[in-house]
Amino acid sequence: MSRANNRIAVLHGVNFDVLEKRDPDLYGGISLSELEYRIGGWAAEMELEPIFFQTNSEAEFCGYLHRVSETADGAIINAGAWTHYSRAIGDALAVDPVPTVEVHLSDVENREDWRKVSVFDGLVESKISGKGVDGYQEALKLLADRLGA
Ligand code: DQA
Repeated sequence: MSRANNRIAVLHGVNFDVLEKRDPDLYGGISLSELEYRIGGWAAEMELEPIFFQTNSEAEFCGYLHRVSETADGAIINAGAWTHYSRAIGDALAVDPVPTVEVHLSDVENREDWRKVSVFDGLVESKISGKGVDGYQEALKLLADRLGA
């Protein structure tokens, strides 16, 4: 039996469609499908229902966030480079908020200075970075606890 309050939108932003082509030292050399497969496995163990979305369009990303509570109870967001400058996505996070955890595969706190900035500060409940794919497992656990799922 599935639990109520267990739908998690897993949102990937710009350049995640080509994740397997990006620097393997930073991003693990896996594809988005492989990443989603791993997340799906953990979600199933926690009786969470992941809903995956990726776009390279900032407008589409904002549009999804405008209605996120219609389809999800919580969210994991890795907006890629948008994280560091898109005030539009930050504003969109406040439109129809659900408990949200920000995840980054790489250790953004120990890369270029501009990556240390997240315009989502104050809009997300937690930020996990530098743990690779395992960061998503941690984010799912946080949301499961938060949602009582
Ligand atoms: C990233 C970190 C960002 O700085 C970068 O622009 C990405 C990926 C990460 O998951 O480590 O595209 O969000």
